[in-house]
Amino acid sequence: MSLKLANIAKRFGAFTALHDISLRARPGEFLALLGPSGSGKTTLLRIIAGLEAPERGTVYYEGEDITHLSVAERRIGFVFQQYALFKHMTVAENVAFGLSVRRRERPARRAIKRRAQELLDLVQLGGLGKRLPAQLSGGQQQRVALARALAVDPQLLLLDEPFGALDAKVRKELRHWLREFHDQVGLTSIFVTHDQEEALEVADRVVVMSNGAIEQVGTPSEVYDNPVNAFVFDFVGESNCVPVIAADGHAVFRGRILDVETAGLRGAGALYFRPHDVRLGAAAELGLPATVAAVRRREGRIRVEAGIVGLPGPIELDLLPDGAPSPGEAITIMPTNARLFPVATIHEAAA
Ligand SMILES: Nc1ncnc2c1ncn2[C@@H]1O[C@H](COP(=O)(O)OP(=O)(O)O)[C@@H](O)[C@H]1O
Ligand SMILES: [Mg+2]
Repeated sequence: MSLKLANIAKRFGAFTALHDISLRARPGEFLALLGPSGSGKTTLLRIIAGLEAPERGTVYYEGEDITHLSVAERRIGFVFQQYALFKHMTVAENVAFGLSVRRRERPARRAIKRRAQELLDLVQLGGLGKRLPAQLSGGQQQRVALARALAVDPQLLLLDEPFGALDAKVRKELRHWLREFHDQVGLTSIFVTHDQEEALEVADRVVVMSNGAIEQVGTPSEVYDNPVNAFVFDFVGESNCVPVIAADGHAVFRGRILDVETAGLRGAGALYFRPHDVRLGAAAELGLPATVAAVRRREGRIRVEAGIVGLPGPIELDLLPDGAPSPGEAITIMPTNARLFPVATIHEAAA
């Protein structure tokens, strides 16, 4: 199965929800659409499913233009954030529903029953077919929704924040389970999430979106280690941002020269670094002078919040327990793997 989107645009009245989106899902790939709320993820998924028509652009499925095919003709499976199971139907009936509504090629009743059971076995709920949805946990309900989505025998599965309503631990279990399931069934999947950790953990490639446009497409490592712009750096993982001025190959913060690659940039810049990409320097070293505001124990690491004169909020540091500073201590922060991005205006804190 291959899916290609070419120059998809979508407006709602005067508002442009998607600008010129082009994207390809490779056969067997697990793609994550990652972006903040309102960035257009659901709209894009609905266009792929056939629930929404684009203003412009083409959807290709196996090289064929399916832009104007109906939902039923596409045979694409989808699962939404809300379980959306029929409350008055048993679990087995819910799954069978996906089969029995087919107009063409509708299987015989007994075949439908057998297939529904197979699908429930596949999502490891084989014994629960007679229950009502309300008698299942949230995670189990979402697996029923998945079984129902698979009733049309899709090769492409679309999932819109399917675990959004579940608690953190269940979400984590389910996303690992889903990834294994995807590999085992041999699907191509497009998974929408606003949770960067979820996207990085499950996807082969991550599509980072904001304001109806794609900012970057890459493997989890590519988008995390090599973000193309400040938005991606900030959205994919934790980050600190310090305004600086770049001149003569140096980045300068309030008169202090920082040991940072300026990559030819001149003028106002925003220096981004991750909490774990720092070391503490000696007071005489050229780094960011800060005062420890809080120290918190985390699994394996110590989280330090440090205040820097001139910045509105604290800088977050992840340090090893050995050598972590104490509250009130004056420290010098040396970013070890920082990226500098241009900004339009010089922030007064940098000068
Ligand atoms: N049917 C609609 N009518 C008007 N605006 C819409 C409609 N659907 C979505 N939008 C707007 O389009 C933008 C993108 O929405 P959506 O695709 O749901 O984003 P996401 O799933 O990334 O949160 C939002 O600003 C939303 O308000
Ligand atoms: Mg959405």
